[in-house]
Amino acid sequence: MSKINKHIKSTINSISSEVLNGENYSRSDFARSILNYPAMMVPSVQEPIIQKLSEALNTEVSLFDPFTGASNTLVTGMKYGMNVFGQDINPLSILLSQVKTTFYNAEELNELEIRVCNNIQNDKSKKIEISFVNINKWFTKEIQIELSRIYRAIRREVNKDMRKFLWVAMAETIRLTSNDRTSTFKMHMRPIEEINSRQVSALRTFFSVMTKNVKNINDFISILIQNGHIKNGQYIKQAKVVWGDTNSNIKTNQTFNLLVTSPPYGDNQTTVTYGQFSYLPLQWIPVEDIDNNIELEYLKSTQEIDGKSLGGRIKEDIKIIEEKIFEKSNTLKKFVCQFKDNERKKAEKVSRFIYELDNSIDKMMPHMRENSFLAWTIGNRNVNKKVVRNDLILSELFLFRNIDLFTGLERDILSKRMPTKNNFSNTMSKESILIYKKTT
Ligand SMILES: C[S@@+](CC[C@H](N)C(=O)[O-])C[C@H]1O[C@@H](n2cnc3c(N)ncnc32)[C@H](O)[C@@H]1O
Repeated sequence: MSKINKHIKSTINSISSEVLNGENYSRSDFARSILNYPAMMVPSVQEPIIQKLSEALNTEVSLFDPFTGASNTLVTGMKYGMNVFGQDINPLSILLSQVKTTFYNAEELNELEIRVCNNIQNDKSKKIEISFVNINKWFTKEIQIELSRIYRAIRREVNKDMRKFLWVAMAETIRLTSNDRTSTFKMHMRPIEEINSRQVSALRTFFSVMTKNVKNINDFISILIQNGHIKNGQYIKQAKVVWGDTNSNIKTNQTFNLLVTSPPYGDNQTTVTYGQFSYLPLQWIPVEDIDNNIELEYLKSTQEIDGKSLGGRIKEDIKIIEEKIFEKSNTLKKFVCQFKDNERKKAEKVSRFIYELDNSIDKMMPHMRENSFLAWTIGNRNVNKKVVRNDLILSELFLFRNIDLFTGLERDILSKRMPTKNNFSNTMSKESILIYKKTT
């Protein structure tokens, strides 16, 4: 390893475990607080990594997150004045990320808040604006009426960016006031007695979320202004997020010198169900206010987004899939082949997920320049009570492309929203940050 690479490696490895474990991290941080999206990356953990890798690159940085989620990676990059580009299959991630990466004028946001509050309070109509199967299961009548008043007030706004901002506040309101439990990402109704005795108002919730979000966005914009990244009311570099399936294609011709991401871990149908989490808010938000290029009938069922996400679909014959993917990862082969019958069937889902992850890497790599860095945060999980070593498997997938692990870090994770059943807590209590360097 060259002297310079050794130096970069040692500066990355010098990041303290306190920082990596996010011990000093405030959950009210802007990047996380606008909407509580599942499995968000911790900005204070990403920040030193992004910062040190950009110092090592020593040139203008173009940052790519192919699994954008809540875009915490992208907004961290923006603090350093980077060009940022993100893609995600979940329309709610796109809406949230568009809002977080857009420059909003503080005064206009403050005026918006007052105007929208007034319009909502003057609306006495009881008309319900949305209908879908099971609406009465997921929302009480009172909440439907209140959400409809919010909906009408948002639609009155002429500026699309302002509407987007308001839809995000409405999405968080829906998360907090629907009959769906907030303790898991999967759709799971609260007990009837709890629903009947709950004192919850969508209007009050919306007003307080809106106030919090105005403040958080203004705080973030102030950081960008202080750091000199805003000129003439615009972010000085490019910041773009698009809807897209990373397993099919990357929707840009751009190339990048830094990739920082955290993929799903292959449990998006069972535990971290990004799609189910998004299903209720997406019922209320018009698609034309998110992205007209969305090629997914995401409201068809509660399973639609998760089914189309990495590892969720059954396309090719599993025999063919395993033949191809086992050649690239011996760890995966050993894991899957230890099982029989039903357990083997369950393990096949891991093969399918890794196969699609590998295919996604194929789509990303042509967009990564020579000497670019790729930082992947990935955790292991349990299937059939045995650990799937996603960390080792990922490194084998890169090794197959002649890309060695540059350096790796480990961090403790503590998530209050993860169920502790299914041996989940043991294996998911640690996560790896694996850094690769594309040399050719
Ligand atoms: C762990 S989250 C990403 C966290 C994010 N990097 C951050 O900074 O907070 C994983 C994301 O991958 C997305 N995803 C899953 N399958 C996908 C696919 N085939 N194409 C694009 N995004 C996908 C999910 O919708 C989810 O938002």
